[in-house]
Amino acid sequence: MSALDIVGDDLKTELPTGETVRFAHLDYAASAPCVEAAAQAVAELLPRYGSVHRGTGVRSQTSTVAYEVARDVVAEFVGARADDQVIFTRNTTDALNLLARALPAGTTTILFDGEHHANLLPWPNPLRLPAPESAYEAIKSLKDALSVTKGTRVLTVTGASNVTGEIWPVRELADIAHAHGVRVIVDAAQLAPHRPANLDHLGADFLAFSGHKLYAPFGAGVLVGRADWLDAAEPYLYGGGASATVGDRPGELTWATGPARHEGGTPNLLGAAAIAAVCAALLVADRDALHRHEQDLLARLRGSLPDGVREMSLFGPDHPRVGIVSLALPGHDPARVAHRLGREFGIGVRAGQFCAHPLVRRLTKSDATATCESGQNALLRASFGLGSTTEDVDRFTAALGEILRS
Ligand code: ALA
Repeated sequence: MSALDIVGDDLKTELPTGETVRFAHLDYAASAPCVEAAAQAVAELLPRYGSVHRGTGVRSQTSTVAYEVARDVVAEFVGARADDQVIFTRNTTDALNLLARALPAGTTTILFDGEHHANLLPWPNPLRLPAPESAYEAIKSLKDALSVTKGTRVLTVTGASNVTGEIWPVRELADIAHAHGVRVIVDAAQLAPHRPANLDHLGADFLAFSGHKLYAPFGAGVLVGRADWLDAAEPYLYGGGASATVGDRPGELTWATGPARHEGGTPNLLGAAAIAAVCAALLVADRDALHRHEQDLLARLRGSLPDGVREMSLFGPDHPRVGIVSLALPGHDPARVAHRLGREFGIGVRAGQFCAHPLVRRLTKSDATATCESGQNALLRASFGLGSTTEDVDRFTAALGEILRS
């Protein structure tokens, strides 16, 4: 058993014919399955688990050490710098909402309409740029936006799209932003499970990702980034842990600095330990080999799509991408197709607009606002990663062809 083996890889499901098949999980972009490293980290802590930062007994001491070790491992995973903080959150949405409230007052947030809602909606003063058609257009659009805005600005951008899987030109955008004194936030929810998500390589000042997409589905996420803004901000949650001293009258208090400032309440030790265990396993894994396998699966899937199916892309078919493919199915309702894939073929995918409505409208070239799970704006998405096999991909493309012909 290896640290990156999938727990429940042999899950079976019964089809209406009575046949039992291995479940083909092709919905990693929504929630990836758990890997052994995460499950073991949790199993090891459960008998010793206690309160983090809040006690003297062996359970509490062990838990505090495990939590802070988890922070250090995550810091290594993203190449955190001396002036970065690693804050454990609930997920990427939570991390980006925390950061949105920590921006200096009056900050303009520059972003593209290619974002997941988690990176589209939290920002208090957004400047939304149209989803670009190329890396060149993204860069030009950013330059134009920087030339017509003043004051404190940040750029926030996804590392990889949860809809198309395309890898955004983060480094190029970051270099331009930094040349204008503008900090850069990277939503790495879909990038980190597939590619190294290193702050310096990306040119990121802040980076967020989720445990449940990184094979550690125990309710934790991560925000990493510059301590100065985070320490100057109001705590995300008022309460114990976030407060350093509390007086007798309302408002008579001082807040903690460092990660504790934004981790009010008892932290999610099991979630943090699970994420760190996956990070540690990925740090020593042959990521080039994992990447090659994923790219082989991508090529296989894209090369055997049934006739009439259209693959969604902003940047064109040759643009680098992770293992996520969204498909338009002209004349078919993706929600119904997804339902049939699950029920009749034992294949799990997602249909809809994937919490990225502006992007999906742009991709489907329609202005209509459709309901999330069906209609002309809806897409069918297959996504995969560790443990995915050629058999999964072949079953998907064959079943899709059969459904579309029927
Ligand atoms: N953000 C997740 C997705 O794209 C839930 O499916």
